[in-house]
Amino acid sequence: LLAELSSVALQVQRARTPREVLWAAAEGLRELGMNLAALRLAGPDELVVECLSLDEGSLRALESVFGAPWRSWRFALADLPMSSRALAERRNLFDRAVVEDLVRIARRSSSSRAAQAEEQVLRSGLQRGVLCPLFVHGQPWGFLDIASATLTASDAAAVGLFASKVASALEVTSTIAELERKNRELAAIQELAEAGSETDFELLLPELLRIACGAVRSDAGALYLLDGNRAQFILAADHGGIAALRSKHSVLPIGSPIGRAALTLESTALGTSPLLADFSRELAAEGICEMALVPLHIKGRLAGTLNLARCRPEPFSEDELRFASQLSGQVAIQVENARLYSDTSRRVKLLTVLFGLSRMGAEALEVAPLVERVLDKVSEAVPVEAVALHLLEGDCLRLAGERGEGGGWDKETAIPLDRQMLCGRAAIERRTQVVDLSLWPERGGGELARSRGMMHAASVPLVASDRLIGTLCVLRRADRAFVDEEIGLLESSAAQISLAIERARLFERERKRVEELQLFLEVGRVITASLDLELILESSAASMARMAEATHAFVLLQEPCKRVLRGVVASAPEHRDHFRTVRLSLDAASAAALAVRTRAPVRVADTKGSNLVCRELVESYSQKSVLALPLLVRGEPIGAVLIGDARWPRAWSEAQSDRAMAVARQVAVSVANARLYEDLKRSYDQLARAQEELVKRERLAALGELSAVVAHEVRNPLGVIFNSLGSLRRVLHPSGDAAMLLDIVGEEADRLNRIVGELLDFARPSDPALQLEPLLEVLGAAAEAAAPIAEPAGVQIKIEAPEPSLRAPVDAHMLRQALLNLIINAIQAMPKGGTVAVAASTEEHQGRRLARIEVSDTGAGISPDLAGRIFQPFFTTKASGTGLGLTVVKRTVEAHRGELDLESPPGRGARFVLRLPLEQR
Ligand SMILES: Nc1ncnc2c1ncn2[C@@H]1O[C@H](COP(=O)(O)OP(=O)(O)OP(=O)(O)O)[C@@H](O)[C@H]1O
Ligand SMILES: [Mg+2]
Repeated sequence: LLAELSSVALQVQRARTPREVLWAAAEGLRELGMNLAALRLAGPDELVVECLSLDEGSLRALESVFGAPWRSWRFALADLPMSSRALAERRNLFDRAVVEDLVRIARRSSSSRAAQAEEQVLRSGLQRGVLCPLFVHGQPWGFLDIASATLTASDAAAVGLFASKVASALEVTSTIAELERKNRELAAIQELAEAGSETDFELLLPELLRIACGAVRSDAGALYLLDGNRAQFILAADHGGIAALRSKHSVLPIGSPIGRAALTLESTALGTSPLLADFSRELAAEGICEMALVPLHIKGRLAGTLNLARCRPEPFSEDELRFASQLSGQVAIQVENARLYSDTSRRVKLLTVLFGLSRMGAEALEVAPLVERVLDKVSEAVPVEAVALHLLEGDCLRLAGERGEGGGWDKETAIPLDRQMLCGRAAIERRTQVVDLSLWPERGGGELARSRGMMHAASVPLVASDRLIGTLCVLRRADRAFVDEEIGLLESSAAQISLAIERARLFERERKRVEELQLFLEVGRVITASLDLELILESSAASMARMAEATHAFVLLQEPCKRVLRGVVASAPEHRDHFRTVRLSLDAASAAALAVRTRAPVRVADTKGSNLVCRELVESYSQKSVLALPLLVRGEPIGAVLIGDARWPRAWSEAQSDRAMAVARQVAVSVANARLYEDLKRSYDQLARAQEELVKRERLAALGELSAVVAHEVRNPLGVIFNSLGSLRRVLHPSGDAAMLLDIVGEEADRLNRIVGELLDFARPSDPALQLEPLLEVLGAAAEAAAPIAEPAGVQIKIEAPEPSLRAPVDAHMLRQALLNLIINAIQAMPKGGTVAVAASTEEHQGRRLARIEVSDTGAGISPDLAGRIFQPFFTTKASGTGLGLTVVKRTVEAHRGELDLESPPGRGARFVLRLPLEQR
């Protein structure tokens, strides 16, 4: 036996842990037909069974005696007198020692069936045995009870020796195990500290759990954290792939067995304690044999539990539990740190979002771009599949912008303020709505969102200065419900967004007002700076189109004394020419005519099908919508402005119509002013001409008087000179030089006489005696009179008369004289000969039929600088001319109420045109 026990002892010494030592011993002894029980002192007085090797039948029998599986047997040392003795005396006891103690406690534990119990124990094959107290590192460890029915006293000595070898093996392995444990613990603590650098909760917790499980040699584990209300534990991480944890036990109410255990217990090895009821049964089904529950305390308060589990029958030791408690402290610190960090970073994120939104609000100048930026910010801050912002328009919500897909929103469909619609309800109740779309009624887009995989929706009302301005709506897929914090963030954002939108709107309104004011000023400036009616109207039309945000504007003016509007200007250059041809009866169907008739603005939102508009105009300028305004001066219409939009039908607001009307009033006044100015200018011109005429007449009259006096005074001496000359010639019969000198005196006296004659012609009050005369005859008489001068000068006189019988009311004598003057001038202009053409015809001039008489020559013509002066009295370019010839012609023509014009094209001969009325008045 000694030899055989030695070889078992060798096996035992190869074992690496105390447990392995005991089980190796048990195995070896079983082969030698011996049973082994190893009882370890778990406290000063308590013994637990570490190892029990017994045939199956005896084991079951004993378990039924003690009413528990052998692993959970616990004995008080005081109840085992033999064991106590062996320990006290530090010696092995032989024979019935083992069984005696067992019988004793069996009797006590099931006293009702004491006899049967005793019998069971006695039949367990432990009747004869050695009870060996073991000392490890000098300290009492417990006992090895080695039993066999055939054990002799000498065997007992060998067994005792074997037990001491087991003791020394326990000593070695426990030292190693202790060292290993310490190492493991140190490593675990180190690892935990390092894991703390991870700040993402989702990553950190599984890592902490993994380390804790590894450190306490657990195959699986779970980390539960108490929720904010301390009502339930929530599975925060699990390790080892125990399915039941996730599927059934992800939430443990605080009243559940494990919850109660966590609340009441220190770190405890639970085995698969019945305390845990279902929980442990389910875990056992997944192969879990041992469990330990380690409460997690943060700042002295229970914050969760660390559950450790083993899939092998190795209970958690006191040391392990102690260490697990230490670990849980570390884990708690890390959890708390991470929580703090994530809280802080969440808060920072929240603040950043809110700050960003508030800055947007401060910078926002227009609503539309603001909405776009806000949507970007929101979808960045809250992970959502879709987000939309609706703004209140009248009594419904209209989409202002969206991000993502799946909302099924569109700009055309307005959302009514209706509790059946999510946004509508949020708006009516002015409260955030968070809903599960699967529970939402069919209406209101719920179906649309569902069909795109959206299941969670939230709608937050946007309220500024206590007024609803819209809603912010977000959607998510099935697996991600909204949490309180996200809703909080959305609500805070909504407050900022509302403020920003309100501010942008205010700014837009102000800017528009300033723009309008500028336009007013501009119109005013143009109107006051210019009296050019066309310019004023063009610029006003353009300004009015801009002010009304329309595509074009037209101005029509009423024709004086007629019920007709005349197109004057169009703001669009491409319409100007066409619009000038527009004539609208005041009685026609037309917005402009109606505005003039009613003296009030006429608004037509949609020209299609409207009977207030002029079809032709609407089609020419493709007007979808028109606004017509009367132009009123002191309440009386003078025309109309027609503002049109070619893009879309639109409702013209009261304000737009009022503003346009204000400009129209200015325009009307300026039209009236410009017209007044034109009238005034015309009157001035007439006055100036009349004055000029008057001066001229007076001058001529004065000249005429003077001429008459001079002529009269010169005629008498001239008569004396002629008489004397005649007498001298008769008396002296002169010849030679004397005759020549007398001829000179005669010629000069003739000349003087002629000048006096002309002067008298000029001065004589020239009232013509009008009679219907055949013009051809008058022309012929003039040509005949000129013939004696024409012939010697080599000039031919031609008379042309397409209507030979043309008669006109003229003074034949005066007209013949005038034509003679013109013919003589023509002859004198052609010293080398040429042709004078005298022609009579008729022509239509300014609605009157006139006789037209032309005298033209082939001379050098009259230069433009002389042309203005030849009609002045006494202007002449000739040495012997008086310069009165043309003056007399002009007076004659004017006396006939006709006109005299010079047409002398450069490089050609002169042409004088006389126009005489054919009707006598
Ligand atoms: N047919 C013509 N061709 C060129 N110059 C002309 C012609 N008719 C008139 N004139 C110019 O007009 C001037 C004025 O003519 P007007 O008949 O009044 O005076 P006059 O011929 O110079 O003198 P008067 O006719 O008194 O003898 C002329 O001196 C001449 O320069
Ligand atoms: Mg002349």
